[in-house]
Amino acid sequence: MDLEAEFERTVAAGQRVEPRDWMPDGYRKTLIRQIAQHAHSEIIGMQPEGNWISRAPSLRRKAILLAKVQDEAGHGLYLYAATETLGADRGDLTEKLVSGRQKYSSIFNYPTLSYADVGVIGWLVDGAAICNQVPLCRTSYGPYARAMIRICKEESFHQRQGYELLMTMMGGTDAQRAMVQESVDRFWWPSLMMFGPPDAESANTERSMAWRIKRNTNDELRQKFVDMTVPQAEKLGVTLPDPALKWNPERGHHDFGQPDWDEFWQVVGGNGPANKQRVEHRRRAHEDGEWVRAAAEAHAAKRAVREDV
Ligand code: ACO
Repeated sequence: MDLEAEFERTVAAGQRVEPRDWMPDGYRKTLIRQIAQHAHSEIIGMQPEGNWISRAPSLRRKAILLAKVQDEAGHGLYLYAATETLGADRGDLTEKLVSGRQKYSSIFNYPTLSYADVGVIGWLVDGAAICNQVPLCRTSYGPYARAMIRICKEESFHQRQGYELLMTMMGGTDAQRAMVQESVDRFWWPSLMMFGPPDAESANTERSMAWRIKRNTNDELRQKFVDMTVPQAEKLGVTLPDPALKWNPERGHHDFGQPDWDEFWQVVGGNGPANKQRVEHRRRAHEDGEWVRAAAEAHAAKRAVREDV
Protein backbone atom coordinates (compact mmCIF):
# COMPACT_ATOMS: atom_id res chain seq x y z
CA MET A 1 0.00 0.00 0.00
CA ASP A 2 1.37 3.44 -0.74
CA LEU A 3 2.07 5.83 2.11
CA GLU A 4 -0.84 8.16 1.51
CA ALA A 5 -3.33 5.26 1.34
CA GLU A 6 -1.89 3.87 4.57
CA PHE A 7 -2.33 7.27 6.27
CA GLU A 8 -5.93 7.55 5.02
CA ARG A 9 -6.65 4.01 6.22
CA THR A 10 -5.23 4.72 9.68
CA VAL A 11 -7.33 7.88 10.07
CA ALA A 12 -10.51 6.28 8.70
CA ALA A 13 -10.12 3.30 11.04
CA GLY A 14 -9.93 5.66 14.03
CA GLN A 15 -6.34 4.60 14.75
CA ARG A 16 -3.53 6.93 15.77
CA VAL A 17 -0.99 8.54 13.50
CA GLU A 18 2.41 8.46 15.24
CA PRO A 19 5.45 10.74 14.82
CA ARG A 20 7.44 8.38 12.58
CA ASP A 21 4.48 7.64 10.27
CA TRP A 22 4.21 9.33 6.91
CA MET A 23 1.68 12.18 6.97
CA PRO A 24 0.62 14.83 4.43
CA ASP A 25 2.30 18.23 4.81
CA GLY A 26 -1.08 19.90 5.37
CA TYR A 27 -1.88 17.52 8.23
CA ARG A 28 1.47 18.27 9.90
CA LYS A 29 1.03 22.03 9.42
CA THR A 30 -2.53 22.03 10.75
CA LEU A 31 -1.47 20.08 13.81
CA ILE A 32 1.47 22.38 14.52
CA ARG A 33 -0.83 25.40 14.13
CA GLN A 34 -3.54 24.04 16.43
CA ILE A 35 -1.27 22.49 19.08
CA ALA A 36 0.98 25.57 19.19
CA GLN A 37 -2.06 27.83 19.62
CA HIS A 38 -3.27 25.53 22.31
CA ALA A 39 0.12 25.55 24.09
CA HIS A 40 0.34 29.35 23.85
CA SER A 41 -3.18 29.59 25.34
CA GLU A 42 -2.13 27.56 28.37
CA ILE A 43 0.96 29.73 28.89
CA ILE A 44 -0.76 33.09 28.32
CA GLY A 45 -3.70 31.77 30.37
CA MET A 46 -1.49 31.83 33.46
CA GLN A 47 -1.56 35.63 33.47
CA PRO A 48 -5.20 36.57 34.16
CA GLU A 49 -5.39 34.34 37.22
CA GLY A 50 -1.76 34.70 38.27
CA ASN A 51 -2.77 38.30 38.82
CA TRP A 52 -4.77 37.20 41.89
CA ILE A 53 -2.32 34.81 43.61
CA SER A 54 -0.87 37.50 45.88
CA ARG A 55 -4.37 38.77 46.74
CA ALA A 56 -6.14 35.45 47.40
CA PRO A 57 -8.47 35.83 50.39
CA SER A 58 -7.12 32.84 52.38
CA LEU A 59 -4.21 30.43 52.49
CA ARG A 60 -6.47 27.68 51.15
CA ARG A 61 -7.57 29.75 48.15
CA LYS A 62 -3.99 30.76 47.51
CA ALA A 63 -2.78 27.13 47.52
CA ILE A 64 -5.56 26.11 45.10
CA LEU A 65 -4.87 28.99 42.75
CA LEU A 66 -1.12 28.42 42.78
CA ALA A 67 -1.62 24.73 41.96
CA LYS A 68 -3.98 25.61 39.14
CA VAL A 69 -1.70 28.19 37.54
CA GLN A 70 1.24 25.75 37.79
CA ASP A 71 -0.90 23.10 36.06
CA GLU A 72 -1.41 25.49 33.13
CA ALA A 73 2.37 25.81 32.76
CA GLY A 74 2.61 22.01 32.70
CA HIS A 75 -0.10 21.79 30.04
CA GLY A 76 1.79 24.28 27.88
CA LEU A 77 4.93 22.17 28.20
CA TYR A 78 3.24 18.87 27.26
CA LEU A 79 1.76 20.58 24.24
CA TYR A 80 5.02 22.21 23.11
CA ALA A 81 6.59 18.75 23.45
CA ALA A 82 3.83 17.36 21.19
CA THR A 83 4.67 19.97 18.52
CA GLU A 84 8.34 18.93 18.73
CA THR A 85 7.36 15.40 17.68
CA LEU A 86 6.13 17.04 14.46
CA GLY A 87 9.46 18.78 13.84
CA ALA A 88 8.55 22.18 15.30
CA ASP A 89 11.05 24.10 17.39
CA ARG A 90 9.83 25.39 20.74
CA GLY A 91 12.00 28.51 20.62
CA ASP A 92 10.66 29.33 17.19
CA LEU A 93 7.04 28.94 18.39
CA THR A 94 7.70 31.26 21.34
CA GLU A 95 9.21 33.82 18.93
CA LYS A 96 6.06 33.58 16.81
CA LEU A 97 3.88 34.10 19.89
CA VAL A 98 5.72 37.15 21.20
CA SER A 99 5.91 38.73 17.76
CA GLY A 100 2.15 38.27 17.24
CA ARG A 101 2.55 35.78 14.36
CA GLN A 102 0.77 32.96 16.17
CA LYS A 103 -2.52 33.08 17.99
CA TYR A 104 -3.72 32.02 21.43
CA SER A 105 -7.24 31.79 22.79
CA SER A 106 -9.24 35.02 22.65
CA ILE A 107 -10.51 34.50 26.20
CA PHE A 108 -7.21 35.39 27.83
CA ASN A 109 -7.37 38.92 26.42
CA TYR A 110 -10.05 39.91 28.93
CA PRO A 111 -8.92 41.40 32.27
CA THR A 112 -9.67 39.84 35.68
CA LEU A 113 -11.24 42.62 37.73
CA SER A 114 -12.41 40.86 40.90
CA TYR A 115 -11.74 37.67 42.85
CA ALA A 116 -15.04 36.29 41.56
CA ASP A 117 -13.32 36.15 38.16
CA VAL A 118 -11.11 33.34 39.49
CA GLY A 119 -14.25 31.29 40.19
CA VAL A 120 -15.95 32.24 36.94
CA ILE A 121 -12.84 31.40 34.89
CA GLY A 122 -12.75 27.99 36.59
CA TRP A 123 -16.43 27.38 36.01
CA LEU A 124 -17.02 28.85 32.54
CA VAL A 125 -13.60 29.10 30.88
CA ASP A 126 -12.24 25.78 32.12
CA GLY A 127 -15.72 24.28 31.60
CA ALA A 128 -15.59 25.40 27.95
CA ALA A 129 -12.02 24.12 27.68
CA ILE A 130 -13.10 20.68 28.93
CA CYS A 131 -16.00 20.57 26.46
CA ASN A 132 -13.58 21.32 23.64
CA GLN A 133 -10.75 19.11 24.89
CA VAL A 134 -12.41 15.86 25.98
CA PRO A 135 -13.12 14.97 22.31
CA LEU A 136 -9.48 15.82 21.54
CA CYS A 137 -8.46 12.80 23.66
CA ARG A 138 -9.62 10.92 20.51
CA THR A 139 -7.83 13.16 18.03
CA SER A 140 -5.97 11.26 15.29
CA TYR A 141 -2.43 12.32 16.24
CA GLY A 142 -1.12 10.08 19.04
CA PRO A 143 1.07 12.47 21.07
CA TYR A 144 -1.65 15.16 21.07
CA ALA A 145 -4.36 12.68 22.11
CA ARG A 146 -2.22 11.30 24.96
CA ALA A 147 -1.32 14.80 26.22
CA MET A 148 -5.01 15.67 26.26
CA ILE A 149 -5.91 12.80 28.61
CA ARG A 150 -3.80 14.16 31.43
CA ILE A 151 -4.71 17.76 30.66
CA CYS A 152 -8.44 16.98 30.82
CA LYS A 153 -8.09 15.34 34.24
CA GLU A 154 -6.42 18.47 35.56
CA GLU A 155 -8.92 20.76 33.83
CA SER A 156 -11.73 18.94 35.66
CA PHE A 157 -10.14 19.88 38.96
CA HIS A 158 -9.88 23.48 37.74
CA GLN A 159 -13.54 23.55 36.81
CA ARG A 160 -14.61 22.12 40.15
CA GLN A 161 -12.50 24.51 42.22
CA GLY A 162 -14.11 27.40 40.31
CA TYR A 163 -17.62 26.14 40.88
CA GLU A 164 -16.93 25.48 44.56
CA LEU A 165 -15.50 28.98 44.98
CA LEU A 166 -18.63 30.48 43.40
CA MET A 167 -20.94 28.31 45.54
CA THR A 168 -19.14 29.66 48.61
CA MET A 169 -19.49 33.27 47.43
CA MET A 170 -23.18 32.77 46.55
CA GLY A 171 -23.74 31.60 50.14
CA GLY A 172 -22.11 34.79 51.43
CA THR A 173 -23.22 38.42 51.48
CA ASP A 174 -25.30 40.37 48.93
CA ALA A 175 -22.13 42.13 47.84
CA GLN A 176 -20.43 38.78 47.17
CA ARG A 177 -23.42 37.53 45.16
CA ALA A 178 -23.42 40.74 43.12
CA MET A 179 -19.70 40.28 42.48
CA VAL A 180 -20.33 36.79 41.07
CA GLN A 181 -23.18 37.98 38.84
CA GLU A 182 -21.12 40.89 37.53
CA SER A 183 -18.30 38.51 36.64
CA VAL A 184 -20.66 36.05 34.92
CA ASP A 185 -22.06 38.98 32.88
CA ARG A 186 -18.56 39.84 31.66
CA PHE A 187 -17.35 36.31 30.95
CA TRP A 188 -20.41 34.61 29.43
CA TRP A 189 -20.08 35.87 25.85
CA PRO A 190 -16.28 35.61 25.65
CA SER A 191 -16.63 31.99 26.91
CA LEU A 192 -18.95 31.18 24.00
CA MET A 193 -16.38 32.71 21.64
CA MET A 194 -13.73 30.24 22.81
CA PHE A 195 -15.22 27.58 20.52
CA GLY A 196 -14.27 29.63 17.46
CA PRO A 197 -16.36 31.26 14.74
CA PRO A 198 -19.65 29.75 13.55
CA ASP A 199 -19.10 26.67 11.37
CA ALA A 200 -20.04 28.57 8.22
CA GLU A 201 -17.10 30.94 8.84
CA SER A 202 -14.62 28.41 10.17
CA ALA A 203 -11.86 28.09 7.59
CA ASN A 204 -10.30 24.95 9.05
CA THR A 205 -13.13 22.83 10.42
CA GLU A 206 -14.01 20.80 7.35
CA ARG A 207 -10.43 19.73 6.63
CA SER A 208 -9.63 19.12 10.32
CA MET A 209 -12.78 17.00 10.76
CA ALA A 210 -11.89 14.90 7.70
CA TRP A 211 -8.43 14.27 9.20
CA ARG A 212 -10.06 13.58 12.57
CA ILE A 213 -7.89 16.23 14.20
CA LYS A 214 -11.13 17.89 15.33
CA ARG A 215 -13.87 15.46 16.36
CA ASN A 216 -16.70 18.01 16.58
CA THR A 217 -17.44 21.32 14.91
CA ASN A 218 -17.26 24.66 16.72
CA ASP A 219 -21.06 25.02 16.80
CA GLU A 220 -21.64 21.48 18.09
CA LEU A 221 -19.33 22.09 21.04
CA ARG A 222 -20.76 25.53 21.76
CA GLN A 223 -24.25 23.97 21.96
CA LYS A 224 -22.98 21.24 24.25
CA PHE A 225 -21.42 23.82 26.54
CA VAL A 226 -24.62 25.88 26.76
CA ASP A 227 -26.72 22.76 27.52
CA MET A 228 -24.25 21.70 30.20
CA THR A 229 -23.96 25.14 31.81
CA VAL A 230 -27.61 26.23 32.09
CA PRO A 231 -28.53 23.81 34.94
CA GLN A 232 -25.27 24.64 36.72
CA ALA A 233 -26.18 28.37 36.57
CA GLU A 234 -29.61 27.60 38.01
CA LYS A 235 -28.14 25.64 40.88
CA LEU A 236 -25.67 28.42 41.55
CA GLY A 237 -28.40 31.08 41.45
CA VAL A 238 -26.92 33.29 38.73
CA THR A 239 -28.51 34.58 35.53
CA LEU A 240 -26.80 34.01 32.20
CA PRO A 241 -26.96 37.36 30.34
CA ASP A 242 -28.76 36.15 27.23
CA PRO A 243 -32.48 37.00 26.80
CA ALA A 244 -32.70 34.50 23.91
CA LEU A 245 -31.59 31.57 26.10
CA LYS A 246 -34.48 29.10 26.24
CA TRP A 247 -35.04 25.32 26.24
CA ASN A 248 -36.28 24.12 22.87
CA PRO A 249 -38.16 20.82 23.42
CA GLU A 250 -38.26 20.05 19.70
CA ARG A 251 -34.51 20.25 19.28
CA GLY A 252 -33.82 18.84 22.73
CA HIS A 253 -31.31 21.69 23.23
CA HIS A 254 -31.26 25.27 24.44
CA ASP A 255 -31.66 28.04 21.90
CA PHE A 256 -29.29 30.90 22.57
CA GLY A 257 -28.15 34.25 21.14
CA GLN A 258 -25.00 34.89 19.13
CA PRO A 259 -21.91 36.50 20.64
CA ASP A 260 -20.69 39.74 19.08
CA TRP A 261 -18.57 38.23 16.29
CA ASP A 262 -17.07 41.63 15.38
CA GLU A 263 -15.68 41.83 18.88
CA PHE A 264 -14.32 38.27 18.50
CA TRP A 265 -12.41 39.11 15.30
CA GLN A 266 -11.08 42.30 16.88
CA VAL A 267 -9.73 40.29 19.83
CA VAL A 268 -8.32 37.55 17.56
CA GLY A 269 -6.68 40.28 15.47
CA GLY A 270 -4.77 41.63 18.47
CA ASN A 271 -7.10 44.47 19.47
CA GLY A 272 -8.86 43.06 22.53
CA PRO A 273 -8.83 44.72 25.96
CA ALA A 274 -5.59 43.09 27.16
CA ASN A 275 -3.81 41.67 24.06
CA LYS A 276 -0.86 44.07 24.16
CA GLN A 277 -0.35 43.65 27.89
CA ARG A 278 -0.46 39.83 27.67
CA VAL A 279 2.01 39.53 24.82
CA GLU A 280 4.33 42.16 26.27
CA HIS A 281 4.38 40.36 29.64
CA ARG A 282 5.23 37.06 27.91
CA ARG A 283 7.95 38.73 25.81
CA ARG A 284 9.55 40.24 28.92
CA ALA A 285 9.42 36.93 30.79
CA HIS A 286 11.05 35.20 27.80
CA GLU A 287 13.84 37.79 27.64
CA ASP A 288 14.37 37.73 31.40
CA GLY A 289 14.75 33.94 31.17
CA GLU A 290 17.58 34.14 28.63
CA TRP A 291 20.28 33.60 31.31
CA VAL A 292 18.54 30.40 32.47
CA ARG A 293 18.52 28.96 28.95
CA ALA A 294 22.18 29.97 28.45
CA ALA A 295 23.17 28.36 31.77
CA ALA A 296 21.29 25.15 30.94
CA GLU A 297 23.01 24.94 27.56
CA ALA A 298 26.45 25.59 29.07
CA HIS A 299 25.80 22.90 31.69
CA ALA A 300 24.66 20.40 29.04
CA ALA A 301 27.76 21.16 26.93
CA LYS A 302 30.10 20.61 29.92
CA ARG A 303 28.37 17.38 30.81
CA ALA A 304 28.63 16.12 27.23
CA VAL A 305 32.41 16.73 27.33
CA ARG A 306 32.69 14.93 30.70
CA GLU A 307 30.69 11.95 29.46
CA ASP A 308 32.85 11.76 26.34
CA VAL A 309 35.99 11.07 28.36
N1 ACO B 1 -9.28 32.47 19.97
C1 ACO B 1 -8.33 32.83 19.07
N2 ACO B 1 -8.34 32.41 17.78
C2 ACO B 1 -9.35 31.61 17.41
C3 ACO B 1 -10.35 31.18 18.30
C4 ACO B 1 -10.29 31.66 19.62
N3 ACO B 1 -11.22 31.35 20.53
N4 ACO B 1 -11.21 30.38 17.62
C5 ACO B 1 -10.75 30.31 16.35
N5 ACO B 1 -9.64 31.05 16.24
C6 ACO B 1 -8.87 31.28 15.01
C7 ACO B 1 -8.33 29.98 14.47
O1 ACO B 1 -7.09 29.69 15.04
C8 ACO B 1 -8.24 30.28 12.99
O2 ACO B 1 -7.10 31.07 12.71
P1 ACO B 1 -5.81 30.49 11.89
O3 ACO B 1 -6.36 29.77 10.70
O4 ACO B 1 -5.00 31.69 11.60
O5 ACO B 1 -5.11 29.57 12.82
C9 ACO B 1 -9.42 31.18 12.76
O6 ACO B 1 -9.75 31.75 14.01
C10 ACO B 1 -10.64 30.45 12.18
O7 ACO B 1 -11.12 29.48 13.12
P2 ACO B 1 -11.32 27.93 12.80
O8 ACO B 1 -11.15 27.70 11.34
O9 ACO B 1 -12.59 27.50 13.41
O10 ACO B 1 -10.04 27.30 13.55
P3 ACO B 1 -9.83 25.83 14.13
O11 ACO B 1 -10.36 24.80 13.20
O12 ACO B 1 -8.40 25.73 14.53
O13 ACO B 1 -10.77 25.80 15.45
C11 ACO B 1 -10.46 25.80 17.84
C12 ACO B 1 -10.51 26.64 16.55
C13 ACO B 1 -11.84 25.23 18.09
C14 ACO B 1 -10.07 26.73 19.00
C15 ACO B 1 -9.44 24.66 17.65
O14 ACO B 1 -8.20 25.18 17.22
C16 ACO B 1 -9.20 23.85 18.88
O15 ACO B 1 -10.01 23.02 19.24
N6 ACO B 1 -8.01 24.03 19.54
C17 ACO B 1 -7.60 23.26 20.67
C18 ACO B 1 -8.12 23.81 21.97
C19 ACO B 1 -7.50 25.12 22.37
O16 ACO B 1 -6.64 25.69 21.72
N7 ACO B 1 -7.91 25.63 23.53
C20 ACO B 1 -7.31 26.84 24.04
C21 ACO B 1 -8.13 27.49 25.07
S1 ACO B 1 -8.48 26.50 26.44
C22 ACO B 1 -7.36 26.74 27.64
O17 ACO B 1 -6.24 26.97 27.38
C23 ACO B 1 -7.77 26.67 29.09
